[in-house]
Amino acid sequence: MDSRPIVFLDSGIGGIPYCAYFHARNPGETLVYVADRRNFPYGKRSRSGLAAILKRLVERIVKSADPKLVVLACNTGTVSALGELRKTFPILPFVGTVPALKPALAGTKTGKVGLLGTERTIEAPYIPELASRFGRGCEIIRRACPELVEFVELRYALSTRDEKEQIVREYIGPFREAGADALVLGCTHFLFLLEEFRRAAAPGIRIYDSVEGISRRVESLLDERDSALRAAPAAGGFAGGVNRFLITGKALPETSWQGWAGRLGFSLALLEETEKAEIR
Ligand code: DGL
Repeated sequence: MDSRPIVFLDSGIGGIPYCAYFHARNPGETLVYVADRRNFPYGKRSRSGLAAILKRLVERIVKSADPKLVVLACNTGTVSALGELRKTFPILPFVGTVPALKPALAGTKTGKVGLLGTERTIEAPYIPELASRFGRGCEIIRRACPELVEFVELRYALSTRDEKEQIVREYIGPFREAGADALVLGCTHFLFLLEEFRRAAAPGIRIYDSVEGISRRVESLLDERDSALRAAPAAGGFAGGVNRFLITGKALPETSWQGWAGRLGFSLALLEETEKAEIR
């Protein structure tokens, strides 16, 4: 049994739906959510620059939180740096997030699958490799949407329902015209707009995401080796320590952070402060 925390890491709020889903299914695990707002947005960074950023960040997290597993709740970080992170931290298990293309390629009838992601994600060699292995001749129509990432990160909390629906409709239109019947949300930020995407896509286009798949992958890693990585079940049902929501950078940039941390029920702090105090 291992009561050390599991870390969920993203450039901002994108990993929250992944962390929340996992938390609901595994309330006994202690979680630390890290929003690397100092380096947001990841999608505009070079692959090597992002790999260097993530190596430094994971090193800081390892020192202050001693995690038993790190979930890279970020497609951009995963396609850019997962391999290097695994090499740099060989005994720390990582779960990466990649666009849910496999089920979309298996499910399409028209042979056209849309993919929305950051610049870095849609140009990753992983995409054509996957298409040639599982694509059965299907076409993957890719679109980079940095504006949608910024919308979610910076304006979502203050936007009206109409504004959210409208921005999503603008993205669905071209895929519909191109004949796609499957659309993959290849950036964790877009999960905040899942319901809007589903409504705008119906009828005819099915939306695919990786939230459940990532949670199941983490759970299966925890349950390997006779559950050695699982937190011990406490008598009161909750085995974990304090769940934390940490932000990189010098100052909390917006008051809405309190709301995001509160949404998960986690306590909010700057990573830097917790490093001084040691979070465990
Ligand atoms: N949420 C991230 C992803 O899944 C990246 C967003 C960004 O920082 O550009 O790709």
